Amino acid sequence: MIIAVIGDVVARAGREALDLYIPKLKEKYSIDGLIINGENLSGGFGISKKIFEEITDKHHIDAITLGNHWHKNRDVYHLGYENEKLVFPGNAWNLKKKNISAKVITLKNGNKLGVINVLGQVFMHPENDSPFLQIKKCLEELSVKAILVDIHCEATSEKQAIAWGFAEQVSFVYGTHSHVPTLDHRILKSHTGFVTDLGMTGSYDSVIGMDIKAAVKRFEGDSSSKYKPAQDNLWMPTILCELDHHSGVCISLKRLVFTDSGVKEWDPAF
Ligand SMILES: [Fe+2]
Ligand SMILES: [Fe+2]
Repeated sequence: MIIAVIGDVVARAGREALDLYIPKLKEKYSIDGLIINGENLSGGFGISKKIFEEITDKHHIDAITLGNHWHKNRDVYHLGYENEKLVFPGNAWNLKKKNISAKVITLKNGNKLGVINVLGQVFMHPENDSPFLQIKKCLEELSVKAILVDIHCEATSEKQAIAWGFAEQVSFVYGTHSHVPTLDHRILKSHTGFVTDLGMTGSYDSVIGMDIKAAVKRFEGDSSSKYKPAQDNLWMPTILCELDHHSGVCISLKRLVFTDSGVKEWDPAF
């Protein structure tokens, strides 16, 4: 089966990019499931109930993972920890609820897929629990072989270490949070797909999704300059992960990038 995975969808521009490009994705590729990271869906920070309901319904999204901004819109509490499509980073300093980092979803073809979401520790909140221990706990609870893991981390080294640490145990480990798509997608030990970061969906002409002028001012030292989401030139970086749902083996990965001039594809370099 083929699962399309999309990283941090940022604000209105991100939602508009989904509206533009998901129909094109589904028209060109046969997909069995669609998973996105939704920590930036609502104004760039968090997820609202209205947006959750609108986009899951419109695009038939199977699961939404979150990140360090999971709590920035209080509506998330109305959606609830037990929401079957929402996967929380349960090792976050402000969560520490061990049973919400993994969900098993049933795809439209009837196949079951485990989805795990964890936060990193390096250059992130010092009180986040270990992502390694969190994933181990999740794997003890899951009874399926096909498992995707969203590792929401700042450090590329931590992402690679987690992926190698769980090679042959899960189907696909993918990074989110840094908002920059990487082209290092590969299959580890002939079993586990990996990419350092899926990249953000939203405005291409931006600083990781935020307005360029506001971000430049802020980095120049003007702390009164507030981040606001950018809107121009939409793109949607995506990875297609083909996996065997009985064994959990990742068969192939393909990097796609949708822009207004079409879609580009890249196979792994090796
Ligand atoms: Fe993000
Ligand atoms: Fe993040």
